[in-house]
Amino acid sequence: MYKKIGLASETIPKEHLDRLSEWIKTYPRLTQGEKVIEFESVFAKYLEVDYATFINSGSSANLLMATTNLFFKDLRNKKVGIPALSWSTTVSPFIQLGYQPYLLDADPINLGVNIDNLYKLIKEEDIGTLILVHVLGHDSSVEKILDICEEFDIRLLEDNCQSLGSTISGKCLGSFGLASTFSFFYGHHISTIEGGCLCSNEFEFNQISKSLRAHGWGRGLDSEFHENLRSKYNNSDFRDLYTFYYPGYNLRSTELNAFLGLMQMNLLDEYCSKRSILFNKYKEQLSSFWCQESSNDFISSFAYATFVKNPEEVWIHLKNKNIETRPLIAGSIGQQPFWKEFTGKNTSLKYADQIHIYGIYLPINADIDVRDVDRICTEFKEVAEPYSFI
Ligand SMILES: Cc1ncc(COP(=O)(O)O)c(C=O)c1O
Repeated sequence: MYKKIGLASETIPKEHLDRLSEWIKTYPRLTQGEKVIEFESVFAKYLEVDYATFINSGSSANLLMATTNLFFKDLRNKKVGIPALSWSTTVSPFIQLGYQPYLLDADPINLGVNIDNLYKLIKEEDIGTLILVHVLGHDSSVEKILDICEEFDIRLLEDNCQSLGSTISGKCLGSFGLASTFSFFYGHHISTIEGGCLCSNEFEFNQISKSLRAHGWGRGLDSEFHENLRSKYNNSDFRDLYTFYYPGYNLRSTELNAFLGLMQMNLLDEYCSKRSILFNKYKEQLSSFWCQESSNDFISSFAYATFVKNPEEVWIHLKNKNIETRPLIAGSIGQQPFWKEFTGKNTSLKYADQIHIYGIYLPINADIDVRDVDRICTEFKEVAEPYSFI
């Protein structure tokens, strides 16, 4: 029987679970205590941003980011540009919150936002917000797009759930926009079992997101920010305990997840280097197939993307060899039932539609090594027929 090669792997080693078990025996506080605060501070420092809000998933982080964005006066409208090559929960919060979402085509080289298509959308719809997704570790032309957003006064948000640890010019992806999101789900660069973060350099963005994270109350906020809310509504200390200033959720994570997150941060660089080495190995082995390129100076690759004429055949062949593959993320969101049903739009886009049909991604994770990549590539080349964009 062939060794099983999964698309994703567990990043939490046994030792971390043992340490978690020992720590639990000290009967610590279990939710929203010092570990959550410490993890937020370590994560923000790593990213070189001012603030982080730890929550229970990357999807929750996107929901929180889309909601927090609504509270800013300089949001001139609810029109938002979103990459078609993204994830269901990159898009769905904007639908749920009554934004007007417009899907953007993919760039045929880095798979991020297509800049020509972005200019076209800006001309037609005057969007107030743009969300970028850095696809599988690669920069979505963020420096160029930041300039465009400044020129047209667009609020730039980043969904960086697939690209923790990737850098351009030494700066982390996810530290460019007004806010950015991260996922710590199993199989991502680090794991807190389930978990996510919303980061920002804006104090107010962070404070509102922290209130929205927990019911919309003022507890746990910066004391001056909280005091301003309290005095605005002329609240007594007693009444303030159950006063809800924002229409909140409960998206909190726990101290247990933060405890794991703190240990995982010590392994992050090691995991990212491994991902970068495996990406380069695939690139070398699959030189006759399409390869994702970007301006990264470091690629903390999430998985290896390529295109083939016969993805289903490749999938079955590799499955028979115990190697897991999947379609390239969600393909085009424009082709997904929820988009068609809940926006009533029929969106077809030149590159995203081809990605939807011909895209496939191959495993990169902490459990595999270059020899495994050799085996995957040998099997892949047995059946895969290269595809190039038209
Ligand atoms: C781009 C993107 N955004 C958001 C998410 C959601 O993250 P989570 O699984 O932690 O909810 C994912 C999940 O893979 C993703 O790829």
